[in-house]
Amino acid sequence: MKCFSEACDRNQDPILAVLKEILPGSGRVLEIGSGTGQHAAYFSRALPDLNWQPSDLADAHLSIKAWREESGAPNLSAPIVIDLLSDNGSPGVVDAIVCINTIHIVAWAGVERLFSLAESILKPHGVLYCYGPYRYGDRALEPSNVAFDHWLKAQNPVSGVRDYEVIKALAESTGFYLGGDRSMPANNRSIWWVRRTAPNVSALSAA
Ligand SMILES: C[S@@+](CC[C@H](N)C(=O)[O-])C[C@H]1O[C@@H](n2cnc3c(N)ncnc32)[C@H](O)[C@@H]1O
Repeated sequence: MKCFSEACDRNQDPILAVLKEILPGSGRVLEIGSGTGQHAAYFSRALPDLNWQPSDLADAHLSIKAWREESGAPNLSAPIVIDLLSDNGSPGVVDAIVCINTIHIVAWAGVERLFSLAESILKPHGVLYCYGPYRYGDRALEPSNVAFDHWLKAQNPVSGVRDYEVIKALAESTGFYLGGDRSMPANNRSIWWVRRTAPNVSALSAA
């Protein structure tokens, strides 16, 4: 049941280069929408001081477990269920969240849940890293992403390339600010959001 994704194989090194810059040196990283489990196996090997927690819908777990078993990395945990469309409990506090090629798949309510979950479990200054294509208000969507958007919507009308400005408004309304936005291969972006210090902590230090 070990599934393989060519896209993961292509994008894992460019993504890893960004993760090395922005993730903390140690701590617990929650991956949402781990898919095949390839990224979890690759990133946990490359970042041995981080504890990598993969997650996805239960259907994906067999493949994630197979990649984990093959990897043998001691810092790669067994997958847990996180369904962004259901309120299925909290995975506990984490230092960072990584979500690759998932926000254009899940329905908008799931994107909102991603940010509200991140707000509730990320430590202050923790990073929510999202990888994928975006539509920006000040420029035309790249032809490859126009085609991808049509394809996504044909698979499921709730999916589609998200508007950067809409995501930014959602991020800001849930207590995040933009950490960075970087161009990636194949017209994708690495965008990371940083959790603001909890309001009560700011209030205490200002007092
Ligand atoms: C395009 S795949 C990306 C997988 C992997 N991150 C990658 O880059 O190959 C989208 C992922 O979103 C997951 N997904 C779909 N609906 C979801 C939901 N409601 N909650 C959490 N994950 C979901 C799918 O199971 C799938 O693994």
